[in-house]
Amino acid sequence: MAPSMHSRKLEEEIQALRERLATHEAMHATKDLVRARCFLGRCSFLAWDFMALVGSMRERFTRTRLPWVPVGIPELRRLVHQVSIVEESDLALGEGASSHFETFLKIAKELDSDTDLLEEVIRRIRLGEPYPHFLTNLDCPSYIHRFLESTWHLVTRGSHEEVLGVFTFSREHVIGDFWSKGMEDLSWAGEAGERLRAYGERHIELSMNDHEPFARDALERLCGEDSGRWARVSDAVHQALRVRLNFFDGLAEELAVLDELQESA
Ligand SMILES: [Fe+2]
Repeated sequence: MAPSMHSRKLEEEIQALRERLATHEAMHATKDLVRARCFLGRCSFLAWDFMALVGSMRERFTRTRLPWVPVGIPELRRLVHQVSIVEESDLALGEGASSHFETFLKIAKELDSDTDLLEEVIRRIRLGEPYPHFLTNLDCPSYIHRFLESTWHLVTRGSHEEVLGVFTFSREHVIGDFWSKGMEDLSWAGEAGERLRAYGERHIELSMNDHEPFARDALERLCGEDSGRWARVSDAVHQALRVRLNFFDGLAEELAVLDELQESA
């Protein structure tokens, strides 16, 4: 199915935001070990948060309770299952079946990134503490807090088209830039760096060949020619990209503080 006029128009509208993300100063963090540890530790939140969208799409677009009956759009169900199987249990990362998040976290930890905050978040969720309210009790940087709350608001209050639109244009559409431009120089990272590069290449391949084109097709089927739906998609996509930019602004500030500390040491 060729991209619709609505989909192409939205892609053009967000091109400037996409460019700002792709060329963001925080993207040059992997050239130096101290900065890369901070970058990977913080970006593990992005890998984890992405699963909120995947889980929300599974609940919204497939039948997750019994008795089973066919629901919704078959192409959309297929997209959700294809995304779920690789995101939760990919076989292409060299360690049996593994979720992308767990693989990313493992590599970040091997490189001595600080992942304590995210692991504390996960520990509290497993204990049944109310997410995202407990974030205020943690020493969580405000830019991470805002990012996580924004996704949570979307998945709990957003419409179907907003969730699918953000998945398509604010995540899959920009993930290739992140991996091609954010991981430029990993030569210092040895074997873990090679696995991180393979992880990134896997994401570029998946988003280009599978996730983004199938998600665009599903979004076009969901929204059709309903301009009200496309307007909601556009607002949600712009908002999510701005929150993502805010995330990298906050990360760049943390990296600048690290630079100052290194210079004064
Ligand atoms: Fe992934």
